[in-house]
Amino acid sequence: MKPNQSLSSSKKTQIENMFDSISVEYDFLNRIITFGNDLRWKKKMCSIAKSYNPKKLLDIATGTADIALELAKIKNAKTIGVDISKKMLEVGRKKIVDQNLSDNVVLKSGDAENLNFSDSCFDVVTIGFGVRNFQNLEKGLKESCRVLKKDGVLIVLETSVPENAIIRFFYFLFSRSFIPFVGSLFSKDKRAYEYLQKSAEKFPSGKKFVSVLEDCGFKNITIKPLMLGATSIYVALK
Ligand SMILES: C[S@@+](CC[C@H](N)C(=O)[O-])C[C@H]1O[C@@H](n2cnc3c(N)ncnc32)[C@H](O)[C@@H]1O
Repeated sequence: MKPNQSLSSSKKTQIENMFDSISVEYDFLNRIITFGNDLRWKKKMCSIAKSYNPKKLLDIATGTADIALELAKIKNAKTIGVDISKKMLEVGRKKIVDQNLSDNVVLKSGDAENLNFSDSCFDVVTIGFGVRNFQNLEKGLKESCRVLKKDGVLIVLETSVPENAIIRFFYFLFSRSFIPFVGSLFSKDKRAYEYLQKSAEKFPSGKKFVSVLEDCGFKNITIKPLMLGATSIYVALK
């Protein structure tokens, strides 16, 4: 789904503009709507990445670079982060300089669906809260697969809808009221937080996403549900 259905511009253009417009408050609002858990999930994702002893890592839809920064702490490894939003990258670059990690990580403008890297060049690809925003999910995942080395690992962190009906009821109650409320209170772009909530409900999570990953060339896929299934980490091999 597009952030604004009434505009004729592509989803990609709308997403780029939307993240440009919320870049400054993005980190702060993320901490609020996840009750500070997002950093913990991102660390978990990066500890999975580290366990594969990677030397070259790519963080797609890196945004303000929380994940790229965590990956940059892996010894003897180099990380590249790419995103279509220049303003999100600006915030990320500042954090890299502040944390003195410029030797280990670099951020570049780049589109997940048309990556400017040769085939089979990364050991690990990570995508945190990004796949839901791709204009063409399959195209983006196939590109991730293309740039991974044989037996390379894709790690995706994404919102999901809890499978248990009771938990799902409370999840809908919470997400349909709290997230748009926080957005309207603190963000310049109220619509962005309505989109965030609605797109999370629409995204094919859990087993459906596993099947999309398989269609895009991945195997041995595992799901690690977090926060009662409201978020999941998917680990997939090329
Ligand atoms: C919700 S933010 C996630 C940022 C960061 N990964 C994190 O976990 O905080 C989604 C990001 O995906 C980026 N994005 C969406 N579609 C993209 C695409 N096709 N290529 C690259 N980045 C994209 C947006 O610009 C935005 O920065």
